[in-house]
Parts: sequence; C-alpha cells; structure tokens
Amino acid sequence: MDLKFLLYFSHALIDDDPHEHNKILQACHKRNVPIGLTGFLHREGDFFVQYLEGPEDQLNNAMQRISKDPRHTDVQVAIEGPLEARQLPDWQMGFVNGEQLSLIDVVGMRDGKLDIKSADPWDLVEFVLENADALSEQALVA
Ligand SMILES: Cc1cc2nc3c(=O)[nH]c(=O)nc-3n(C[C@H](O)[C@H](O)[C@H](O)COP(=O)(O)O)c2cc1C
Repeated sequence: MDLKFLLYFSHALIDDDPHEHNKILQACHKRNVPIGLTGFLHREGDFFVQYLEGPEDQLNNAMQRISKDPRHTDVQVAIEGPLEARQLPDWQMGFVNGEQLSLIDVVGMRDGKLDIKSADPWDLVEFVLENADALSEQALVA
C-alpha cells in the first residue's frame, strides 16, 4: 500500500461559521476513517488549506470528491508526493481557524489579502503540521 500526502488550498464559498465547518468535519470523519485518510483542515478568511495523507488511490478518489464540493472553489494542489510514514496518524481530520495560528506568520499579504498562491508549499505543510502539534499539546494539558 503506497502512502501519499497532499496539500491544497481553495477559496471558501461558505461563511466562516462553526456550524458549516462541523458539517464538513462530520463528512470527513464518516468517510476518512474507513479508507484510512488522516489530515488537518485550516480555515482562514476566504481560504481553506487542507493537508491529507493516506493510501494513494483512496486519497486521489477523495480529492476528486472534495474538488467538486460547491462549498469551495478554485481548489489548487500546492504539493503532493510519496510518504514513508504518516505525519498525522491520530487525526481523522483536525480543524482550526485563523484564531489559533495564523497564516499571516507564514504567507505574505497582497492587496490586503493573504497571498497564498505565492507561498512556499513546504511552509504551508509545516504550518499545518505545527497546528496539529499545538492542538495535541493543548489536549494533553487539558
Ligand atoms: C474544505 C473541505 C474539505 C473536505 N474534506 C473532506 C475530507 O477530508 N474527506 C471527505 O470525505 N470529505 C471531505 N469534504 C466533503 C466532501 O467534499 C463531500 O461532501 C463528502 O465527502 C461527502 O461526499 P458524498 O456526498 O459523495 O458522500 C470536504 C469538503 C470541503 C468543502
């Protein structure tokens, strides 16, 4: 079973609203567990950034579904590739919004908006993995 990882960003078409995000997370939990996908979703302003990892075929299939979802548009894969071992084995799908860790620290601004298209994809991966780490630590402390 070949493992792969992928990070994409997209333009959100739904409000930055916990109720809307919970619906997405419920779908993630239902669909990702049986097919062995793990990952993390970040919402900030108009952007979603999602890191996904798992069996290559399953991940490719899931991406086809996710790309067609009308809750976002302009889905752009920033980076993808083979993976030796999972980075987020314990996250069926973690989620944070920009209040916890902001992409502003990683991504430059253009015309008052995050210039995510010019960001180094590895910086985005590192950002998402740090988010997940920070949340795991909070959970341990709580
Ligand atoms: C930003 C975003 C991230 C999503 N991430 C996932 C995901 O990781 N796994 C998944 O199965 N569905 C995800 N979805 C939901 C899918 O697009 C789709 O609605 C869901 O898989 C149900 O598909 P179905 O109606 O064909 O069963 C995501 C949707 C959005 C908008």
